[in-house]
Amino acid sequence: MAIELDKLYSQTARAVRPSAIREMAKHAAQPGAISFARGDPAPEIFPVEEFYECARVLRDRGSEVLQYGNTAGYAPLADFLTGWLTPRLGRPVTREKLLITSGSGQVCDLLVRSTVDRGDFVIVEEPTFLGNTNGMRNAGANFITVPVDEQGMVVAALPEKIGSVRARGGKISFIYVIPTFHNPAGVTMSVERRRQLVAVAQEYGLLIMEDDPYRFVRFEGDDLPSLYELDGGDNVVSAGSFSKILAPGTRVGWCVGPEPLIRTMTVLKQSVDSSASVVSQAIVAEYCRSGKLDGFLPKIIENYRRKRDLMEAALRKYLPAGEAQWTMPNGGFFYWITMPNVKTADLIKKCLERKVVFVPGEPFYPNGGGEHSFRLCFTFATPDQLDVGIRVIGEAIRELAPAKAKA
Ligand SMILES: Cc1ncc(COP(=O)(O)O)c(C=O)c1O
Repeated sequence: MAIELDKLYSQTARAVRPSAIREMAKHAAQPGAISFARGDPAPEIFPVEEFYECARVLRDRGSEVLQYGNTAGYAPLADFLTGWLTPRLGRPVTREKLLITSGSGQVCDLLVRSTVDRGDFVIVEEPTFLGNTNGMRNAGANFITVPVDEQGMVVAALPEKIGSVRARGGKISFIYVIPTFHNPAGVTMSVERRRQLVAVAQEYGLLIMEDDPYRFVRFEGDDLPSLYELDGGDNVVSAGSFSKILAPGTRVGWCVGPEPLIRTMTVLKQSVDSSASVVSQAIVAEYCRSGKLDGFLPKIIENYRRKRDLMEAALRKYLPAGEAQWTMPNGGFFYWITMPNVKTADLIKKCLERKVVFVPGEPFYPNGGGEHSFRLCFTFATPDQLDVGIRVIGEAIRELAPAKAKA
């Protein structure tokens, strides 16, 4: 008897849709394509030789590194991270507060497993990172959305939204926020808003997930205090990752948060993947402990600042002045462009014909919206591609809105 897989599928599997970013990545893989789609680091600066050298840990500590690992994380990497993060997050990070994960995407997954039952609510920014909202949706979460402006999440909108969920007897599992060099909006939450957000979480007894993988990719200006520091208590779990500061192929991330929550997430992780790859953690630990990470960060920052400048120049040159809106990012990977008189669904069709790929705005709006916006990643493309690709987008915009879009 033929097996009917459709009948076996869970409600989640039936409802699941491929990620818009992954779909665009297929177009980006075509020969000759210019990709501003995925949030990929610049491949030309991966520290390949140094990483290869660090792989000697497989020979030096092979019997430990090739064994099953501790779920909380490989001890030498955990020790490095507690020391490295404490001054950078502005508050002590101990082993008990730290969980090393398979990428920081897993932090969100474990938090969802820990706090979301079907029908619960998660408060998210609008727009927000679709990789994580997809996981929340799969778990049956409903979304309360809060707009983002140049100062980050509009925190003043929160009390009313929290009140209306609670008045209906709904449970708010957590507030999901990307405070620094936002994906996709490119903006950074001001100190004032950070303080307000933490105050709201404390007043209403809410948990915040501070998703901060771009924190250390700053091109100019001073570091801002983490939500984890401003809270000083148990209301914030802060996630980070080696994906954007070293190499996403390592699949090593982390989170720092209240000890009881970290314990619960650790137990849940045991049945997901037992631990993040010990081989990967060990190579990353070798790399970091010898000071190489601190030497590599300025190289990334220099490369990406240059690319950000090139994209900014190209946007000013090729996009219709006065109509295209964006905020220049002071770090991170992304530009977020809004064109009120252009439908991005039409724009992407025209651009794909010319092999220029980006991610249209709609998937970044879990409750709908974003039809006139799109995300551009500036870190992956070469300097030449940055200019050519934006020129193509500018031409396509003029074809779609010829009357208004004069440069
Ligand atoms: C805001 C945000 N959170 C999480 C992730 C996932 O990163 P990781 O590779 O560490 O799983 C990304 C990746 O693009 C991201 O932009």
